[in-house]
Amino acid sequence: MLNVKQPEKNCIYRADCIEVLRGLPERSVDLVIADPPYYRMKGDFDFVFQTVSEYLAWCTEWVRECYRILKPTGAFYCWGSSQMIDKLSVEVLDKFDWIKRNLIVWNYRTGRPAKAAYRNEAEFLWFYSNPLHEINIDAIRVPYDEGGEKDKRKNPKGKSCGNVWEFSRIMPNYRESTGHPTQKPEKLAERMILASSKAGDLIVIPFAGSGSEIVPCAKLDRYFIAAETNESYVKNIILPRLEKERIPFSNNDYRKQPLATLRPLSGADRR
Ligand SMILES: C[S@@+](CC[C@H](N)C(=O)[O-])C[C@H]1O[C@@H](n2cnc3c(N)ncnc32)[C@H](O)[C@@H]1O
Repeated sequence: MLNVKQPEKNCIYRADCIEVLRGLPERSVDLVIADPPYYRMKGDFDFVFQTVSEYLAWCTEWVRECYRILKPTGAFYCWGSSQMIDKLSVEVLDKFDWIKRNLIVWNYRTGRPAKAAYRNEAEFLWFYSNPLHEINIDAIRVPYDEGGEKDKRKNPKGKSCGNVWEFSRIMPNYRESTGHPTQKPEKLAERMILASSKAGDLIVIPFAGSGSEIVPCAKLDRYFIAAETNESYVKNIILPRLEKERIPFSNNDYRKQPLATLRPLSGADRR
């Protein structure tokens, strides 16, 4: 496995995120967006854990590093499934000395009907932060519901964003679709990035997947450091996606030292 002693900004590491996180100085990161494997749900990567306690012990290991690297103004977002989101909070996230801010519900509205349960049409996102973090409310305002147009109390810029986020899932025919088994819409990460960081901030993405968090980072001029263990996802999904989005990167290092670093250029260098 690659030795990641000093991770560089705007690099995607084909590496275990724990190794990448350990290479980062404490209190150096503005935002972490984590979309870890869920426990036994969908992709192959979900099925490497034999027991719930093994899964939670692994989560504790990488979350400890996220907590260590976060600035006093920093924020941490972590996805989870309905089966695991409560355990993740009580048995992992609450063990650290940060503030539990919201449980965000991503309501994607579709889902398979079941005989003995309600249709699952949501996933869950924990938002924790250090005490000095504030969200940028104006950057993520949403339209008001119809009606009451003359109500003077309404903010002309829109309603402040609540903790139920409505975006559809990525369907195979969507332009954004990459074939990654658990790809999330870019709009989700875009909202977290706009709310909890500003241009020039450093964002850590421990589980890059198809790059859904990397692309909005690059488009919004944030720096990022990302990790992904699966070579094929980096090579066959993330790189072509950056290319398609016209986000340039230098892959000299990638060729010299296969699967090490990919270096998108800064926003200023964008074509
Ligand atoms: C839920 S997916 C992330 C999907 C991503 N949010 C997206 O929308 O494309 C989790 C990813 O973490 C990767 N992964 C699993 N274990 C890892 C580890 N220890 N370090 C880094 N990446 C890992 C998997 O290969 C998978 O692509």
